[in-house]
Amino acid sequence: MITSKELREKYLQFFKDRGHAIIGSASIIPDNDPTVLFTTAGMHPLVPYLLGAPHPQGKRLADVQKCVRTGDIDDVGDATHCTFFEMLGNWSLGDYFKKESITWSFQFLTEVLKINPANLAVSVFAGDADAPRDEVSADIWAALGIPRSRIFYLPKENNWWGPAGITGPCGPDTEIFIVRDVPDCSPECSPACSCGKYVEIWNNVFMEYNKQADGSFIPLAQKNVDTGMGLERTVAMLNGYGTVYETDVFAPIIQLLKSKTTADIPGDEAIRAIRIIADHIRTATFILGDDKGLSPSNVDQGYILRRLIRRSLRFARKLELDPLILTQVSQLYVDIYKDIYEELGRNNERIIEELKLEIEKFSRTLQQGLKEFEKLCQYIQNNSISGKAAFRLYDTFGFPIEMTVELARDNGITVDVEGYEACYKEHQLKSQAGAEQKFKGGLADNTEETAKLHTATHILLASLKKVLGDEGIQQKGSNITAERLRFDFNFPRPLTAEEIKAVEDAVNAVIKAGYEVTCREMPLDEAKRSGATGVFDSRYDQVVKVYSIGDYSKEICGGPHAKNTADLGSFEIVKEQSSSSGIRRIKAILK
Ligand code: SER
Repeated sequence: MITSKELREKYLQFFKDRGHAIIGSASIIPDNDPTVLFTTAGMHPLVPYLLGAPHPQGKRLADVQKCVRTGDIDDVGDATHCTFFEMLGNWSLGDYFKKESITWSFQFLTEVLKINPANLAVSVFAGDADAPRDEVSADIWAALGIPRSRIFYLPKENNWWGPAGITGPCGPDTEIFIVRDVPDCSPECSPACSCGKYVEIWNNVFMEYNKQADGSFIPLAQKNVDTGMGLERTVAMLNGYGTVYETDVFAPIIQLLKSKTTADIPGDEAIRAIRIIADHIRTATFILGDDKGLSPSNVDQGYILRRLIRRSLRFARKLELDPLILTQVSQLYVDIYKDIYEELGRNNERIIEELKLEIEKFSRTLQQGLKEFEKLCQYIQNNSISGKAAFRLYDTFGFPIEMTVELARDNGITVDVEGYEACYKEHQLKSQAGAEQKFKGGLADNTEETAKLHTATHILLASLKKVLGDEGIQQKGSNITAERLRFDFNFPRPLTAEEIKAVEDAVNAVIKAGYEVTCREMPLDEAKRSGATGVFDSRYDQVVKVYSIGDYSKEICGGPHAKNTADLGSFEIVKEQSSSSGIRRIKAILK
C-alpha cells in the first residue's frame, strides 16, 4: 500500500535528485488573473516564468499544488470527479525538454512506483495547422519500451493543454495512462474514451506556444515543460482502488459519514450523497482555510464556496445527518492536511466558525424552501418550474439555481433557467439603483483606477494598525473594483466615529506626503524577515514581490500599484460594518 504522504515525498525527492528546486503550493485564489476564479493547475502560479521571466530558484522546479476545478461539479459523486485535488508537478523553464521529461516520468513510474510498463499506455499530439504531429515524443516512448500499439495519436481536443485562462502559455502534451484489466469498449477503444479502461495519471505538456486573445498561437521565446500528476487518482491506482474515496485522505471521512447515516435510501444514492459531502467539504475547507480569507457570499469564489456548503447540506439532510456533522468532517480534513498545508492549522478556528455560520444560515431556510419546492411541483404547468419561481427560491430561501435544477431533475421536471437569469438581472438592476450601487462585487482588473485603490488598500492596512494599535490586525479579504475598495480585517468590535476619522486622516496624510511606491522581488523568507506583511501562502523559499510605500507600509503583493501616493487624490471611508464574526469590513473610495 502507498499513502498520499509517501507519494508526495517520493515524487519531490525524485525531482530534487534531478536538480529541481522544491517550491511551495501557491494560494488556491490566483493573483492578478481575472479570467479564472481558482488555481486550476500547478502551472498557473508559474505563468510569468513560463512566459520568460527568470525564476529566482532556477530553471527546474517541482511542487505539490492545491487545485480547485468546479466545472464538473455536477458529476461529483461518481468514481472520479473531485472539485479539489492535489497536483504533483515538475517544470523546465526553457531548460530540458521532451527527452528528459518523458524518460524521467517513465523512470519514476516504473522504477520508483514499480508500475509494470506493460500496464502503461501513452498518447501524443496528432498534429494540426497550429503544431506538428509529435513523432519526437512517440519515438522517445518507443525507445523506452512502450509498444507502438500503446502509443496513441490524438487531436487537440485530447492532447493539447492550456492556457489556464483565456490567454497564455500552452502546447501539445503527452499523457500517461494506467491500462486497467477490462476489455476494449469497441474496436476503436483508446485513451480518448471514457469507458474506464485507460485512467490518465500524468500529463507532460510541452509549452512552446502563447495563445493570444484572438485565438492564435505564437511561439514562446523558450521551450518549457509543465507536468501534472493527480495525487489522489495515482494513489488510488497504485493501491488497486476503484475510486479516490478509498484513499487515505478520504477514508476516515467516508467512514464517519457511513457510520452516522440512518436514512433508508438505496445504497447507490447514499454512496453518491456521502461522496458529494466528502468532496465538497474538503474543497470548502481549503477555500475557507486559505490565507486569503474567503467567506461564503453571492459573488465569485465566495459563491462557489456557498454552493459547495449548501449542496452538502442538502445531501446531509437526505442522509438524515445532523447538519453540524459537516464541521466534524471539516475538522477531520484540517487534521489530515495541516502538516502539509500549514494554513489549515493557522486558520482552523476561522474555517469551523465560517462553516457553522453558513450551515446555520441555510438550515433555517432549507426546510421551508423544500416545502415551497414541493408545493410548486404540485402546481406547475408543462412540467417546468418558471424562472420567476426559481428566482423566488433563490431570493427568499437561498437556493442556488443549480440546487433547484438538481431537485427538479430528481422529480422529473425542468427549470426555466433563462427565465431565472432574466429575473436575476432585473433584480440586480433594481438593487443598483439603491445605495449599494457602487459596491457590486467583481474581480480585480488592472486599470489605473484599480491600481490606485490597491495602493490605498496597503495604506489603509498600515493606518488601521497604527490607529487601532493592534499588532494582531491582519488582512482577511480584499476586493477592488474601479469604483471602490473593500477590505476585511480581524477586529473584535465596530470602529468608533473618531477611529474611522483618524484612519482616514492617516491615509490622507500619506497620500499628501507623496511617497514613492516601490517594488522589489525577494525570497519569501527574506520578505518575512524584512517585516513585510502579507499573505504567506508558501512554506518554501518562493520569490514574492514586496511593495513599499515610503517607510509607511511594506507588503507582499502581486500588484499592480500607483507609482506615487500623490496620484491617489483623497481617501474616504464610506462604510464600516461587520463582515462575519470577528471580522470588520471597510468600504472606501478615492475622490
Ligand atoms: N497543466 C497540465 C495539467 O493541468 C500539466 O500540469 O494537466
